[in-house]
Amino acid sequence: MPEQIDQIKRDFEAEAKDIRTADALEDLRIKYLGRKGHISNAFSLLAEIPKEEKPKFGQELNKLKKAVESQYNTLYESLKKGKGKDEYLDLTLPGRKPFIGRKHPLNQVSDEIKSIFKSLGFTIEDGPEIETDFYNFEALNMPKSHPARDMQDTLYITEDIVLRTHTSPVQIRVMQNKKPPIRMIAPGRVYRRDTPDASHSPFFHQAEGLVVGEDVTFADLKGVIESFACQMFGEDINVRFRPSFFPFTEPSAEYDFSCVFCRGKGCRVCKNTGWMEISGAGMVHPNVFKAVGYDPEKYTGYAFGMGIDRIAMLKYGINDIRLFFENDLRFLNQF
Ligand code: DAH
Repeated sequence: MPEQIDQIKRDFEAEAKDIRTADALEDLRIKYLGRKGHISNAFSLLAEIPKEEKPKFGQELNKLKKAVESQYNTLYESLKKGKGKDEYLDLTLPGRKPFIGRKHPLNQVSDEIKSIFKSLGFTIEDGPEIETDFYNFEALNMPKSHPARDMQDTLYITEDIVLRTHTSPVQIRVMQNKKPPIRMIAPGRVYRRDTPDASHSPFFHQAEGLVVGEDVTFADLKGVIESFACQMFGEDINVRFRPSFFPFTEPSAEYDFSCVFCRGKGCRVCKNTGWMEISGAGMVHPNVFKAVGYDPEKYTGYAFGMGIDRIAMLKYGINDIRLFFENDLRFLNQF
């Protein structure tokens, strides 16, 4: 008998350990504490025991019953605590998947641009989105009367404070704070007065590039842009420069990549030209160097712009810039 009592106790404890649901607990109760359960059965065995041993085993059995009941009650309470009064915590249910956030596609492309330029020895710089007229225009060789100011539909906060229309003012801030050599890019958000449509948004993203040193040439500019194009879109991408005008560079150019969809053969997206416009670039204008106190006789440099939204659209084949800003999770979850 004592071994039997011990055995029942051990079995109950072993089974109780694995109980996770109310149903399983009820089965366990019936199995041990029920009318025909192990403990009842053990009591009925008392009849076969010699008279003088009966009280002792009776006591042992009562102890067992109490212990099992008490463990059962503890289990019952802990399962009940899981949820509201009549619910139980069912730990066998499959878990809820936690919602995992991800980087916005523009951040992913911006990170990729940064990492490519970092590998070419560029630093990453930052500047304010609310700018003064001086940094956004004046120091970039666009005095108040300059017609080039009309090229950009500026959002003014006061007569002298604007939402920056491009990331070029970061060039000025960096040159004011550092001596050459400089190799930097400055990614960030810019603002223009535009009505949103598939290719326009009142805010979008650019990265400005600037390299200044003693023997920096247009050939260096071409090499860096070409290296960027190949790392971003593949080794077979070609780059071409077309003469253009920007007040802060002389000579100035616009640069194109061969179409990333047809790889230059000509398709609907590139209107059969085989090329896609990317942005502007050029050699830093001497007046810009003068505005930051650099000697234009000593230093030369190149600068370039690049549209981050545009590059992301090319990279992922997106035909509407507004998708980036609507925060529709069905769109964003694809990246
Ligand atoms: N800031 C120009 C824009 O917003 C882009 C640009 C053109 C930047 C030529 C440059 C450059 O640094 O040299 O359209």
